[in-house]
Amino acid sequence: MKKESFHKLITLVAAVGLFGLAPHARGGEETEKPEPKDMGEAMDLMSGSLKRLRRLRRDPERWTKSAALVAEGSRIVVASMKWIPKQILELPEGPEKIRALADSRRLMGLTLVGYAELELAFLAKDEEKVEETLDKLKEIKAESHDKYNRGE
Ligand code: HEM
Repeated sequence: MKKESFHKLITLVAAVGLFGLAPHARGGEETEKPEPKDMGEAMDLMSGSLKRLRRLRRDPERWTKSAALVAEGSRIVVASMKWIPKQILELPEGPEKIRALADSRRLMGLTLVGYAELELAFLAKDEEKVEETLDKLKEIKAESHDKYNRGE
């Protein structure tokens, strides 16, 4: 093979590596993150991402790292939406159960909105909004657990 053709071949292989394969490898990493196995584990992960925010307070990259942590928490909130609290599952069929199902979906929805607002507050580096949104999430958690996790 001519030296020139060999160089062209090397360039082509490098280009395929950079533009063809690398994005697939990154995409694969994202789907490899473990999914929670039940509602309790999902809740633990959700709560863990909020607790880890405190440790980032003095980090020079605090805002971007916190936003990424909360985005990961949002992913878990979405995953947790597929479970129904045991307390509701155990209710007899009827209007009370139908109402509780709708109400817990409302609270889960508000939780997701709260996480999204918190991520936006970190992206905007808005301390006041961060505190306000964290308080709102605490209230939603308290209401949800009072109603549907009385064992806690
Ligand atoms: C910011 C929002 C929330 C946080 C930080 C949070 C946090 C937690 C934590 C730490 C647990 C204990 C997990 C364990 O068993 O080790 C838990 C359990 C639970 N939470 Fe939440 N929670 C939130 C919102 C909600 C919402 C919106 C609902 C329902 C509408 C809910 C319903 C439950 C239930 C049913 C359990 C018991 C799960 C089980 O073990 O079967 N939580 N939560």
